[in-house]
Amino acid sequence: MVNPIKTILALVLLTAQGAVAAGPDFDQGRIDIPSMNIRPSSEKAGSLWVTLDRGEVATVSASNLFAQEPIRVSGSEAMYEVSESQLLGLSSFMHDTFNRCGGFFAYRTRAEAEADLAAKATVNSGPYTVNQKAVVASLVAKVQEAGIRSTIETLAAFNNRFFTSETGVEAATWLQGRWQALAGNIPGATTQLFKHQGWRQPSVILTIPGVEKPDEIVVLGGHLDSINGMERSNASRAPGADDNASGIAVLTEAVRVLGTSGLRPSRTIQFMGYAAEEVGLRGSQDIAKQAAKDGKKVVAVIQYDMTNFRGAGESIYLLDDNVDPKLTAFLGTLIETYAGVPWSTTRCGYGCSDHASWTRNGFPASAAFESTFEGMNHALHTVRDTLATTGGTAQHSVAFAKLAVAFAVEIAKTAVPATK
Ligand code: BES
Ligand code: ZN
Repeated sequence: MVNPIKTILALVLLTAQGAVAAGPDFDQGRIDIPSMNIRPSSEKAGSLWVTLDRGEVATVSASNLFAQEPIRVSGSEAMYEVSESQLLGLSSFMHDTFNRCGGFFAYRTRAEAEADLAAKATVNSGPYTVNQKAVVASLVAKVQEAGIRSTIETLAAFNNRFFTSETGVEAATWLQGRWQALAGNIPGATTQLFKHQGWRQPSVILTIPGVEKPDEIVVLGGHLDSINGMERSNASRAPGADDNASGIAVLTEAVRVLGTSGLRPSRTIQFMGYAAEEVGLRGSQDIAKQAAKDGKKVVAVIQYDMTNFRGAGESIYLLDDNVDPKLTAFLGTLIETYAGVPWSTTRCGYGCSDHASWTRNGFPASAAFESTFEGMNHALHTVRDTLATTGGTAQHSVAFAKLAVAFAVEIAKTAVPATK
């Protein structure tokens, strides 16, 4: 059987070696594997800067990859100055050693690497509290499996939601319309398409303005794109039912419940469907970078990426890497209080989804996953990632939608309580 992760890695290496010359331009400092596309114009010819998890320094040092020591260690990360050939070696080393794609971040300049490390070290999240029990309990009771299922079916029916395809754009436009329709009764709620430079697919953002603290923002997001990992073309079939129509469907069900409730939040709530996650977290990276640049006060971010495959029992699994520990602990409390399922932790071991974009830009972010990493849905990135693969229902996602409603209301709080 083809291992999709290995396939991606092979493509990464091809791309990095220049075999794939076409494709969108990368104008940002950070180079994400596997969308890596290194230009020879770094500040010091031939040098690049990489950051990786501190816990991996010993393994990397014991290998014969680098003779050099890290030039800086900050918080949980270490920084190295490397040559381009070492970077490629690191990519295959990480894959062979830790069984993952990428797993480190590469930058063209030391200044960019330093800026990301500094942002990460200074996150001061919370306090997060549970004090909206009556309103949240009545709202989570309204979450329905059928609503989640129907969004998965609609999104998986697009031939693909690839970041450069026509249907990738159509899926984003459809989602904008759906969120606008569901939130239309909330005063001031607006949807926008966030356009990106270099590819066609926009991200989708629904904003429910806060009544008392409109500058403080609570973000609930997931990626709306899909990919066929073998082919990666505009025509390839990529249903992406679990990865990640399921996450978008969870968010959409939370929008539906909030939209019918009459509730007005104290803080601003934003729902986000990110473009181009599958090619290097690129949509979320644009958005999080812009939020940092604009000095936005994003108080909490939750990421939903794959919610519908029961790979390790009924639990919700919270990622414990590339996340904010305080916010993640709070999600545990929310699950215990409102979601009606057990929870546990797991880890990707690398920046595997859009929460990592927020974390890297200095915002508190967490991520809820369907299973242990080991128990993952192996149909991801293939034509087999359909609703049928997850049993034809959205049952496993129901608790995730309850968590989304609880997250929105307990972090944004209510200015005007729910009336319906
Ligand atoms: N949904 C996956 C992430 C994932 C995969 C989580 C398996 C848990 C288990 C996501 O859409 C994805 O494919 N991410 C890429 C990384 C990204 C930087 C391109 C990956 O994991 O290779
Ligand atoms: Zn994926």
